Amino acid sequence: MKKYSLIEFDVILLAAGKGERMGFEKQFATIGKIPLWRYALDNIITHPACNSIIVVFPEKTNIDQTLFNENPRLSWVIGGNTRSASVWNALKFHRNSLSRKPFVAIHDAARPILPHPVLDRIIEQLQMGEKAVIPVLNTSDTIKSFSGSYITRTLKRDELVSAQTPQIFATEIIERSYEILYAKMHKQNLSNTEMNFSDDSSLVEMNGIKVAFVTGSPHLQKITFKEDFYHLKQLLETNFETRVATGYDVHKFRPWKAKEANHCIKLCGIEIEHDFAIEAHSDGDVGIHALCDAIFGCLADGDIGSHFPPSNNKWKNANSETFLKYAIRKVRDADAAIKFIDLTIICELPKIGPKRDEIKKQLGKLCNIQMQSISIKATTSEKLGFIGRKEGLSAIATVTMTIPAKINEKNPNG
Ligand code: CTP
Ligand code: MG
Repeated sequence: MKKYSLIEFDVILLAAGKGERMGFEKQFATIGKIPLWRYALDNIITHPACNSIIVVFPEKTNIDQTLFNENPRLSWVIGGNTRSASVWNALKFHRNSLSRKPFVAIHDAARPILPHPVLDRIIEQLQMGEKAVIPVLNTSDTIKSFSGSYITRTLKRDELVSAQTPQIFATEIIERSYEILYAKMHKQNLSNTEMNFSDDSSLVEMNGIKVAFVTGSPHLQKITFKEDFYHLKQLLETNFETRVATGYDVHKFRPWKAKEANHCIKLCGIEIEHDFAIEAHSDGDVGIHALCDAIFGCLADGDIGSHFPPSNNKWKNANSETFLKYAIRKVRDADAAIKFIDLTIICELPKIGPKRDEIKKQLGKLCNIQMQSISIKATTSEKLGFIGRKEGLSAIATVTMTIPAKINEKNPNG
């Protein structure tokens, strides 16, 4: 199991280009009604080492504020007339952020697919002390220089790689590199277009900082031309399958014991006051248990009992969030994504309605998905059966997940 305790990064997601080679602002082109920049955002924000994201939009973009209002980890700024100017605007904004992290990832929104193993490889290098790490691919074609209509030189292919994003840098290094660039531009009275870099590591290299590299991924390919977009559309539509699975759990109530002063039960990761305690091996959180089973169901990977056997004393009184975090890691490792959670709690009491938003917020945080992709419902059983007699409560979860089975099974490097 991977650990990220040491490395956390903020992201600058660049979506302020004009898409001249494509013929339109490609970052807003949609596949399945979702714009490309949203794919890129969702694919990076779900990595556990990712902290906040600054999205860089072109001037005069009609920005739907809802997403940004709902998610305190997200903010946006307006970009500049070159890629470097867009990064610089975002870095200046980032400098004033109170919660900023020691590393910054700069990523093209025009790279909508981001296999997490690539980020894992970068983080491994940062953990080993590197300060600037980029993903690269070997070039399969022979690369040549030309002038006019003639080839002037053939470059040595085994000395060449092509650079992708996200590129991650120690915050002070990338800030310093851009400060030096802009100070120089001011001094020499140069415009943005005279000093533009097509990637950020070139600037860092120029300042004498060693840039390490890891293997990138063919799926990280940048959408530059129309053909790239149609290829991606086909890939997304044919190589991802959608799975739906349910999970169910039930627990029995019991009276509180004299030594139990806090009369709160755990439900969907939050504490709710209740007249009865829950009898269970763990903390008895039916919401999270049902959700874990639905997730394991989508992954076709057993159930909560097979991953956390109740016979093992290690899980006695365990906080169920541990189970959910484990299930979410499994989703991530499969490069899958939870698209929607629908959870129904069945009980006479406690009342769920007043807690709905708090539950959504908590589950959204634990599962790394937006609150609007979670539905929380509650019902009684009309006083019938064990639930009606208030002897216990139950939950049914339905999870919708997309899983890029072909991509990841065939390509272990992501
Ligand atoms: N980008 C940006 N601000 C700019 C230029 C580019 O934020 N002034 C972003 C793009 O939106 C893209 C990424 O940088 O996500 C990589 O750039 P590129 O592929 O060159 O995109 P465009 O500049 O939009 O395309 P083109 O060069 O064909 O105009
Ligand atoms: Mg460009």
